[in-house]
Amino acid sequence: MNSLLSTQQLSVNEVETILSRAQFFTKQDITWRTRATVVNLFYEPSTRTCLSFQQAAHALGLTVLDFTVERSSVQKGESLVDTLQTLDAIGVDLAIIRHQEDWPALTTGLNLRLSLINAGSGRYHHPTQALLDALTIQQSFGTLNGLKVTIIGDIFHSRVARSNAHLLKMLGATVQFAGPQQYFATDIPGIAWVDVDQAMEESDVIMMLRIQKERHVAQEYIVDYYEKYGLNDRRLKMIKKDAIILHPGPVNRNVEICDEAMTDPRCKILQQVKNGVAIRKAVIEWCLLGGHNEKLVSA
Ligand code: CP
Repeated sequence: MNSLLSTQQLSVNEVETILSRAQFFTKQDITWRTRATVVNLFYEPSTRTCLSFQQAAHALGLTVLDFTVERSSVQKGESLVDTLQTLDAIGVDLAIIRHQEDWPALTTGLNLRLSLINAGSGRYHHPTQALLDALTIQQSFGTLNGLKVTIIGDIFHSRVARSNAHLLKMLGATVQFAGPQQYFATDIPGIAWVDVDQAMEESDVIMMLRIQKERHVAQEYIVDYYEKYGLNDRRLKMIKKDAIILHPGPVNRNVEICDEAMTDPRCKILQQVKNGVAIRKAVIEWCLLGGHNEKLVSA
C-alpha cells in the first residue's frame, strides 16, 4: 500500500500513471472486488476535497466510515498521531487528512498499516489539487510541456502554489508567480516573479489563488487588491484567446476574480472540481492497490 503525502515523493512515471488512470475515470466507473474502509479526517473546512474524496470512495465501492473531527475524541484532546494509531488498530485501510499543520512530519517513524493521503497540510502540500490541476491543463493543451503557467495571489500562504510549482515544473511547464510583495514566498526556489498585467498577456494558464485569511498571522489586508492584483474585467480582456483560467476554489468573487471570468469559456474552474473526483479515485486506487488493477471489476 502507498501513501500520498506530497508531489515531491512522486516520479514523473507515477504522475503520468495517476493522470492517465484519472482520465480513464472521467469516462468510466470501476467497482472494487475487495472492500476497504476509508475515513476522512478534516481538521480544516473543505467542500471540494472532502466531498470529492467521499464521492470517489463511494463510486469505487469502498466503505466510508462516519467520522467528523467535531464529533470525535479530537474534542477531548486526542492528538492526530493517537487518532491515526487508533484508526489503524480498528482496521481502517485509508485515512484522508486535512490539517492546519505540516502533519506528514508528525507521522515519520510511525509503524502504521493504513495508507495516508494528504488532503491539505497547512501552507505546505496539497498533492491531489496539483494533480487535478495538471489533468485539467492536460485536457486543454494535450501536454504541459512548454506551457507558461502563472500562479497569482497569496503565494506565501498557499499549499496549492507549492504543490503546483513542483508538479507542473516536473511535467515540463514554466511556472511563474505574480501578486503582492507581501505574499512573496522565499522558500520556493527557481520561480520568477512577474508583473500581473504581463502575466495576463503571456500565460497559457492563469491560476488565481484565494487570499488565505485564516493563515495570516497579522492583519495582512491589501488595499485595492482587486484593482492591483485581481483578474478583473480589464485584465480578462488581456488574456490570450486560447489560455485557460484556473482557481482551486473557493473563490472570492470580485476580490481575486470577476463574475465575467467565472462564466468565460476559458474558465475551467468547474472542470477542475469534476476532475477532482477522477483524480481522487486514481489516487485511492494507487494508494490501496499500488496500481494492481486486477483486483478491480467493472461496474
Ligand atoms: N481546493 C480546495 O482544497 O477546496 P476545498 O477547501 O473546498 O476542499
